[in-house]
Order: sequence, then C-alpha cells, then structure tokens
Amino acid sequence: MADCKKFYLTTPIYYVNDVAHIGHAYTTIIADTIARYARLKGMDTFFLTGTDEHGQKIEEAAKLRNKNPQEYADEISNSFRKLWDEFEISYDKFIRTTDENHKKGVQKAFKIMFEKGDIYKGEYEGNYCVSCETFFTQTQLIDKEFCPDCGKPTRKLKEESYFFKLSKYEKQLLDWYKEKTPILPKAKANEVIRFVEDGLKDLSITRTSFEWGVKLPKELNDEKHVVYVWLDALLNYLTALGYGSDDESLVDRYWPADLHIVGKDILKFHAIYWPAFLMSLGFELPKNIAAHGWWTRDGEKMSKSKGNVINPKEVADAYGLENFRYFMMREVPFGADGDFSEKALIDRINNDLANDLGNLLNRIIGMSFKYFDGEIDSSKVKEFYSKELNEVEEIIDSLEPYLYDMQLHKYLEELWKVFSIANKSIEIYKPWELMKENKRDEAMALLGLIANILNKASFKLYAFMPKTMEKLSFALNSSIETDKYTYYIDEKNLLPTFKLNKIDPLFPKIEKPLLKPAPVKVEVAKEKSKETNKDEGIITIDEFFNVSLKIGTIKVAEEVKKSKKLLRLEINLGEEKNRQIVAGIKEFYSPEDLVGTQVAVVANLKPAKLMGMLSEGMLLAAKDENGLHLMRPEAPKKEGTPIK
Ligand code: MSP
Repeated sequence: MADCKKFYLTTPIYYVNDVAHIGHAYTTIIADTIARYARLKGMDTFFLTGTDEHGQKIEEAAKLRNKNPQEYADEISNSFRKLWDEFEISYDKFIRTTDENHKKGVQKAFKIMFEKGDIYKGEYEGNYCVSCETFFTQTQLIDKEFCPDCGKPTRKLKEESYFFKLSKYEKQLLDWYKEKTPILPKAKANEVIRFVEDGLKDLSITRTSFEWGVKLPKELNDEKHVVYVWLDALLNYLTALGYGSDDESLVDRYWPADLHIVGKDILKFHAIYWPAFLMSLGFELPKNIAAHGWWTRDGEKMSKSKGNVINPKEVADAYGLENFRYFMMREVPFGADGDFSEKALIDRINNDLANDLGNLLNRIIGMSFKYFDGEIDSSKVKEFYSKELNEVEEIIDSLEPYLYDMQLHKYLEELWKVFSIANKSIEIYKPWELMKENKRDEAMALLGLIANILNKASFKLYAFMPKTMEKLSFALNSSIETDKYTYYIDEKNLLPTFKLNKIDPLFPKIEKPLLKPAPVKVEVAKEKSKETNKDEGIITIDEFFNVSLKIGTIKVAEEVKKSKKLLRLEINLGEEKNRQIVAGIKEFYSPEDLVGTQVAVVANLKPAKLMGMLSEGMLLAAKDENGLHLMRPEAPKKEGTPIK
C-alpha cells in the first residue's frame, strides 16, 4: 500500500456449499478495513469479494438437497451478499463464478495458455479430495487414503485430463518469492518456498466425471471436460475487472492486485498456482498475498455436527458489529490461529473500548461543559503539553508500516498507547485542581490535548470502526474525510476552537454474556454421568443441554420419490433459513398440510443420508395407536427459539 495511487484488494471467493461463518466474516472484515483505510488515504481503491460456485462439491451439495446447482448456488450466494450488506462491507464488486462474463474470461485464459503450449492433454490417475477440491499423490495421503488437509477420505480417479505445465514455472516462482517477498507473514512464505523447492508436478486442470463447471473453449472441441474449479476460481481476480469481456479497461487500471487476503489453507493455491497461471498468461504478479490463521471456539475446531459454529451475525447483533470487528482484529495476530471466547470479547469491549476510549470522551465532555461551557481551545496545548503531544505524534506516525505488514493487532496495540497517554495526563495534571488553583489556561490546554488525541485517533481507527469513529468525530465537531486526514495526520495540525457535541456513550459496558453457550463437550458430560449417575437411563442436565432443540417453520415439503415413508422438508430455523430434514412422516401428513406450520427440531444431530439426500436434524413426534403427531408450540414462536 506504501506508495501506490491505486489499490486493488480481494478476499477469497466463498464456496456456496455452506452459509457464512466467522472465518468468512474474518477475512471479509479485514479486507474491508484495509479498503477503507486506502480510500481514506485517497487511493483509487477496488475491493472485490464474491462466491465460488462450480465444482463437484457444489454439484453434490445441491443434489443432496434435491436442487439444481444453479438454484442452490443462487440461494447461498445471496445469503453471503446479504450478510456482507448487513455488515456494511464496502466491496466494489461481488463476483459470482456463474456470471457469464466470468465464464468467458476463463475460456479466454484457457485458450491462451493452451496456444502457448502450457496446457497438454493426458490422463490423470490419482486421488482427489472433493471437500478441498484438490488432487493428491499417493505419498501425500495419510494412510494411503485420507486427505492430508482435511482428513476426509479421497476418491481414486482415472480420467482423461488436460494438464498445466506447473513444473515449468518452478524456478521463476522461487525467484519471485526471493526477490519480491510477496507472501505474508514470513513464516508462511517459508512453507511455500519449501513446498516448491521439493518439486512441482504438472497440474490436472480439467475434469470429466461431472458437469458443473466452465466448459472448455469451443475451439478445443472437447465437450466432456469442465475446467478444474481452482483454475476457474482464481481467474475471478481478473474477470472481475472485465478480463474476457468487451471492456477490459479496469484490468489496465487496477491490475496487478495489490493484496490477496486468504486463509492459510488456501495459500498454496494463491502463492503457487495463481502466479504460475499469471506468468503463463503474461500478466504481472500480485504485490502481496497475505494468509491468516483459523478461528476455533473455546479451543475446539468448529463444526456443524458439534453445533459450535459461530454465526457472525449473532455475535454482531448481540455485541455490536464494530465491537466485533475490533475484537477480531485486535485479539489475534494476523497469521496465527485464534480462539473465539465470549469472555475475551467482553473483556476487549469493557476494557479497551469502554474504559480506555469511551470513558476518555465522556470525561472531557463532562469537564469541558462543567468548566468551559463545552468549548475546547487548543491554542495553548503546545505551550503546556508539548512533551505529551510529541509522544502522541510519534506513535501516530509509527502506525502505518504495521498495516503494510498486515500486523493489525500490533497497529491497534500501538494506537492504544495514545489513550494511555491521555488518561495518564488527566490523572497527573488533574484539571479539577488546576481549576481550583485558577490555572484556567492549563486546564483548557489539557482538555485541548485530549480532544486532539481523540481526533487523531478517530482517523487512525476509522477503517476499523467506521460508524463509531464518525460519531466520535461528530462529538469533536469534525468529520472523517480525506482532506482532513491530510490536515490533521500528515500535516499534524491541531483542532480549531470549537464546542463539543454531547453524544451517548460510544461503548456501553457489557454486564453479562449475551450469546447462548456453546454445547458442553460430550466427553466431559459422559465422564460426569459415570461419576454421579449410577442409575441407568438418567442423564445430567449438561447431557440434556447437549441436545439443541429449536422451533422451526416448515417452508417446503415434498414427497421423496420411491419412498413410502419419507418427506423432504426445508425448515426455517432462524439463523438458518433452509435446513433440510428428511422425515419419516409421509404416512401421517401430506406435504400441503405441513407448509407454514411449526415444529420442534433436534438441530444438532449428526447429518445422515436418507435415500441419497442429506438430512440435517430430526423432528420431534409422538406415535401411538392413534397415529403419529408432531410436537408443536402451543402458540407461534420465533424461528430458532430454543426449547428448554
Ligand atoms: N472457494 C475457495 C476460495 C477460492 S479463492 C479463488 C474457498 N472457499 S471457502 O469458503 O472454503 O473458504 C474461504 C475462506 O474462509 C478461506 O480463506 C478459509 O481460510 C476461510 N476460513 C474457513 N474457515 C475458517 C475458520 N474457521 N477460521 C478462519 N478462516 C477460515 O476456499
């Protein structure tokens, strides 16, 4: 970002096989922060996000839900876009790999690489992990069968395939890593370099065993192949700028990408395959690829079956979107894995935000109105408090390099030192005593010092907490704009004489946890039950609370063909709008009678396949000689209401 006028940054495009979780929100919020920072600095910024919609994984996920892949992709892609809009993510483009323009761009790239001699036809024989959409050699597999990345069983493949000459680019890649050090953080770069030094094999880049993908360019006359999903997906960074369409002017304006932000699991694709494809196509390489770590919850990997996946919307609704943003970027060093604990979130809000920052503003508003009718005059700040002011300027000046290195936590940690200087100055110089001693100028200058610290911080924190900083700036009778950034930050000017605006506290304190607790670990519950309950059939309260029971509304109900017993249902469970459950109730209910009614759902049951369809949960029902009856709430309840 250091010295460029334009700034092009991207998030990964998200697979549409599942709804957004905290990991997706993390990448997107970091990217949003950097994009906002670049815009505030006056850079011509383009921020791209979107969804990755092709491939076997999506085709299979759609089939399990009895949907066609496009219909299914539309639904999930919309849910991503809706969440980013609710999160006020300032993307400039939301790309979908099912967009016609994107598909054209992929075909154009394929043709160019083919004509250049970088693509040849052969036969692929090996193992494929559908979950990671990745090919593996025998030596890479765990126990000759399982995926080294996600641990799931791989599938043996023997297919005719086109290959990309990845091996040809080995040396060029290694030179690039060494000369330009594009990969952040450094530890991750070393892993990539070692991987490439071990030798690269040519990459299979087409598939014939399924159809949900971009077809090869017509000129190749090979209908049965579709483009490998990673080649398709990576090209989004170019097609989003119009590559392959009639208007490629944005490619000229923004390429090369300045920053690709990715999770550590997909760094290999971005730092090896992508630059090799670009070299083949004759494009410049990205300036930086930054890989972040993974989030766990209370020390455990998140998974649907454990029921401990964090829904980012739920956290943002409970604690405030911008508090959540701050927490994610402050709590964990970029690149390291991070643990989401509600306690840590509350501590950050109450200590860093409410105490250090919010309270500081309250205090100067309070004192200024008490002593000076709300007026702040900075004209004597340099006379009385130049040491403090210089320290603050030094800290403010030192921050930006942390952003270039993606050390966002360090940037915030350092920035917080200015609040510490402000709070300490109040304790040391005690404006109330200065007033008693009739040192009005000194007292006013002290309030001026604090107001200027808050003003500078509002610009430096804006990208992290935009709305909150606009409020802070309003309290200081100012506003967040590029010209003012230059005036106050680069040129180090002080605020003019002005009257403070009284505003509500920026960060109300959190008194108690607001999220529903994650399910207790099953192993712990079992242990306890052995110790305390000798009576068979008795369960502990913890064991009971392991079961997540919720109220849902049936949105779709249809018969499962060839099954006497099964109906396929889609149920709105609040945060999840289309949970699919396949229930054995066909003999007792017709689909039309079910739509719109409410039911009790076991929401954290391990998913199972029934007649080839995915069933994620179970309905509660009672059956006796009078038939089967579903358990329903006595009065309508909000979707997702827990049953306790
Ligand atoms: N579709 C590919 C990316 C193609 S980019 C050309 C993909 N999609 S994904 O939806 O599976 O993952 C998207 C991002 O989410 C990845 O960067 C991944 O690292 C991130 N995360 C998924 N789970 C995560 C956590 N639990 N924590 C942090 N990030 C995680 O991969």
